[in-house]
Amino acid sequence: MVRSQVKLSCKNITADVIGEEHGITDAQLKALAGKTLPLILKLNKERKAGETPYRDLPVRTDISKQVKALVNEIKDDCENLVVFGIGGSALGNIALQTALNPYMYNLDDRQRTGPRLFVFDNIDPPQLCSFLDWLGDGLDKTIFNVISKSGWTAETASQFMIARQLLLDKLGPDGYKKQIITTTDANEGILRDITDDAGCRSLVVPDGVPGRFTVLSAVGLFSAAMCGIDIDSLLTGARDMDTRVSCEDFYKNPAAINAAINYHYYNHGKKISVIMPYSYHLKDMADWYRQLWAESLGKSRDLDDNKVNIGPTPVRALGTTDQHSQVQLYREGPNDKLFTFLQVNNFDRDIKIGPAPDCAPELEFLADKKLSELLNSEKKATEYALLESKRPCLTVLFDRVDAYTVGQFIYLFEVTTSFAGALFNINPYDQPAVELGKEATFALMGKTGDEYEEFARQIQSLTKVDENFLV
Ligand code: PA5
Repeated sequence: MVRSQVKLSCKNITADVIGEEHGITDAQLKALAGKTLPLILKLNKERKAGETPYRDLPVRTDISKQVKALVNEIKDDCENLVVFGIGGSALGNIALQTALNPYMYNLDDRQRTGPRLFVFDNIDPPQLCSFLDWLGDGLDKTIFNVISKSGWTAETASQFMIARQLLLDKLGPDGYKKQIITTTDANEGILRDITDDAGCRSLVVPDGVPGRFTVLSAVGLFSAAMCGIDIDSLLTGARDMDTRVSCEDFYKNPAAINAAINYHYYNHGKKISVIMPYSYHLKDMADWYRQLWAESLGKSRDLDDNKVNIGPTPVRALGTTDQHSQVQLYREGPNDKLFTFLQVNNFDRDIKIGPAPDCAPELEFLADKKLSELLNSEKKATEYALLESKRPCLTVLFDRVDAYTVGQFIYLFEVTTSFAGALFNINPYDQPAVELGKEATFALMGKTGDEYEEFARQIQSLTKVDENFLV
């Protein structure tokens, strides 16, 4: 059976469509191919040498086996699955759930194929309190999946400590041990120590894979499989995309082309990269991409230690919602953006628009049409309007949104990020600026040690509200 491939449509970035001032000419594309080709070879070589272990997640059957075994063990007794995690330890989980389960999954038992899923990727007190109020006595039917690669992240650690105390108070040590599942480093970190101490069940964040590249590991697969998502198809999609993004012909490699186009525009005054899905299912994939792109590519130094302060700014928009919020700016504001639309040809559900009321014959043109036709027409209309204003537009085409195509999309954008990192000559796999913020939080929260105390003093003096500047 020929399965549907996610494709990147690139015509509307060309000079033929939007003119030479803003479009890419044949000569420029050729130059990009020349620059990118050696990087395809380099990335393939690094991958073979085991230097980019995220690339092999789709073939790690050991991980999916372990995840499925755990799901089988606990699913029948679990009515609520709570994920505690942040950044790369949560955004993929949210994105998979929105993409592959129905909108009313949590609320409608008939649409639910697993436990309700709640992903807390923030530490807002009223939010968590409201949830715990709702949960009430349901602790024994609730699994808390605490995800942290480092084990050190203050947000996740504090969420865990709240849940731990609740479980110990209400269900005792056995209940605590039973209802917590950790996902963390195999050998190191506080969360691993806690896991060993509690004797609770645990999954592993694979070695050498930065958080934002872990969605196809136990980090993302466990909550997905618990909620009935077909993780085998997800991984098959990623594997099939792997063949395409490893291709050593630049013109046939969608990740290399995608990265090269983004790189070109960054260097030609379009430093903002807008991703705009026309599908509610894909809405949170845009958030996942935003983190992947920002944290991987926003760097102060290149690989030769030159100060570069580089990185495209990823922006998420949603069609059609943001047509009524952002498109005025996108068309008439500065021409400093590259647009990437996500378009779906076939929706898993569709609905017809009803007839026009007799008093409103002007609405007849909408009558009896499918809502998907309106949504996709709006996408084309927006793209047309942007092209009229000479704004470059890419489109990622999904024949349909299912686990197989979502697996392809995830892998396509992960490898695009690696190519973009290579083109910008930066390390896309670290996040030193995020680490500083984490350390600063520890200092402010009273972590002991001379260096933290001094650090806290520095932060307080810089962030103290100064009455002279208060208006
Ligand atoms: O991509 C990353 O590395 C980060 O976004 C991390 O996922 C995030 O900071 C959470 O870190 P941890 O999983 O160590 O708690």
